[in-house]
Amino acid sequence: MTISAMGVAAFSAPAYLTGDAAQSRIPVNPDVAPHYLSIVIHALPASLALFLGPLQFITPLRVKRPGLHRIVGRIYMISIVAATIAATFATIFTLDGVPVQVGFALLIAAWVYTLARGYRTIRRGEVQLHRIWMIRNYSLTFAAVVLRAFLGLGLALQEPYPWITFADIYTSSVWASIVICAVIPEYFIIQRMLTPLARRQQRRQTAATGRPDRAVA
Ligand code: HEM
Repeated sequence: MTISAMGVAAFSAPAYLTGDAAQSRIPVNPDVAPHYLSIVIHALPASLALFLGPLQFITPLRVKRPGLHRIVGRIYMISIVAATIAATFATIFTLDGVPVQVGFALLIAAWVYTLARGYRTIRRGEVQLHRIWMIRNYSLTFAAVVLRAFLGLGLALQEPYPWITFADIYTSSVWASIVICAVIPEYFIIQRMLTPLARRQQRRQTAATGRPDRAVA
């Protein structure tokens, strides 16, 4: 995951460092001058967030260098705020159609919401909840990687199935990446974090009451 995230970040950003709209990988709206600018302002900090995110999940680094975790976390947050504001404009001006606009609008809302919850929980010292919200948030950031993987797969399928249009591939890739990146972390959060917690609580209740179905008053 880390390698693919860093690879996509390193691959995506350079085309938008030149300031040349002709190098954009998606069609730029010729009637709206700020469209290209919004893609550039979005792509650069979004790539930085994608690149930095994996560092935050390396436990020894987090434990040994908490100061570094805080600094990288702040850069990650600022990058997402900047990328989100620009993505809102890119969503409004995109030429890729209403289904894509709806998908990106939902992704933007979920990206900001999970980030805000991640920030609020750590300010309150709720470390475990911070961890859960940041897993959700980075999974949504990772949608950029999953989207590009689906695009690659879709383009490869165009050869044997030439009736599939690029619009079909793009729209289904956007939606598939959003759904997958929203659902997969829930599996890990429930299985790895909440299930052991529920089991521990259940064992404590059983030990205290002698009955598995009685709550301790
Ligand atoms: C997860 C939240 C994200 C949202 C809501 C979002 C939204 C958008 C939108 C609306 C566009 C314009 C698409 C179009 O017109 O069809 C776009 C393009 C782009 N985004 Fe994001 N994006 C997100 C994450 C990322 C990340 C993490 C990266 C890092 C690589 C990234 C890099 C790009 C690039 C490079 C483009 C230009 C198209 C291309 O060259 O592939 N985005 N994004």
